[in-house]
Amino acid sequence: MLSRAAIYRLVHRRGAAQESRFLAVLPDLICTAGLLAVIADTGIGARSRADLVLSGIVTAVWCLFVAAYALRIWSAPEASGERVASAARARLDYMGSAGGWIDLMAVLALPAGWLAGLPERDAQLFAIVWALKYIRQSSGLSLLLRVMRRALPALVSVVTVFFVILLIAATLAYVFEREAQPNAFSSIPHALWWAIVTLSTTGYGDVVPVTIWGRMLAAWVMVGGIVIFSLWAGIIATAFAEELQRRHFLRTWDLVAEVPFFQTLGAAAIADIVRLLHARHVSAGTVVIREGEAGDSMYFIVSGEATAMLAPEPVTLKPGAFFGEMALLFGTPRSTTVVVTEPSVLLVLDVADFRMLAGRRPELINVIEAEGRRRREVNAALQHA
Ligand code: CMP
Repeated sequence: MLSRAAIYRLVHRRGAAQESRFLAVLPDLICTAGLLAVIADTGIGARSRADLVLSGIVTAVWCLFVAAYALRIWSAPEASGERVASAARARLDYMGSAGGWIDLMAVLALPAGWLAGLPERDAQLFAIVWALKYIRQSSGLSLLLRVMRRALPALVSVVTVFFVILLIAATLAYVFEREAQPNAFSSIPHALWWAIVTLSTTGYGDVVPVTIWGRMLAAWVMVGGIVIFSLWAGIIATAFAEELQRRHFLRTWDLVAEVPFFQTLGAAAIADIVRLLHARHVSAGTVVIREGEAGDSMYFIVSGEATAMLAPEPVTLKPGAFFGEMALLFGTPRSTTVVVTEPSVLLVLDVADFRMLAGRRPELINVIEAEGRRRREVNAALQHA
């Protein structure tokens, strides 16, 4: 018998990805099966055998959605990992969340069609809202929302310019073309169709200007359309890049704060370093550094463990320690092999950023250099022994 916590993880996909890849993609597969059945059913004769099978699939998928919604409500109190103060509160939180609303819509889709008194096949069309489940299940949704929020003011300005050009283009086209093409350009609303098709660079070609002024106008409107859409794409791309950088900053900040080596630094210094470091999750047994190779980065251990394979005694490096600094400091090949012996999180500082840090935060590099020199002396002594 599955516990409520296990059911919570199953239906809310928390941890499912780690447990089984199949479980992680199962909700998407079910949703896809339902949607394909709805779509395919529209091209098949009513009451045929295939129609019955497809309708059966749609109903089965709906039943699964109903069951999953009920289980999600029931298991919602497990959300915090421990028993929350009020189970009812946790359930309401889930039902009021964006995901909860999407789940509810998926459940209500078919009954809405039935209640509207539509024939079975038309009632099924409501199931197209199941496509929202893809958004619900995508972890990128919150990223997308943040990006749109970040880019909103700039996007609104571009849309405003779009509408201004649209109106001016439609008015001028009406003035230039109304005599030559009284049907297509009989009024500004009619001309608006040509303007939007041209400005969006779609160009169906169903309505085309025939006067010389009309054609010159069309050329400008087409170029304007390209400029507007490239601006639009540029704004969204920049917002994406900024948002990803912000996430990287926050995630790395948390990791940097865990490393004792950086804990004595002030916020300004940490902010400086966070921008230069990249987190890397490494599984046990990975060779991070190979003896004799050229070195292009050094590593700080946030969690886990690494071993410098020195003879006669390997040296174990614990969280807070760093390695790979000697090649960067002294320009020598890697002095020994370093293997990660437990699943670890490392912060990587590459050579260019190491040099930059040396200029900006010499006090930090001095500590690394002192340790590098000490290790070099220890190794030299061991070699002579
Ligand atoms: P590097 O020579 O770039 O690559 C191998 C790394 O192993 C080295 O930098 C040090 O960071 C680490 N290392 C080498 N010798 C020792 C030692 N005696 N004690 C701890 N770490 C060492």
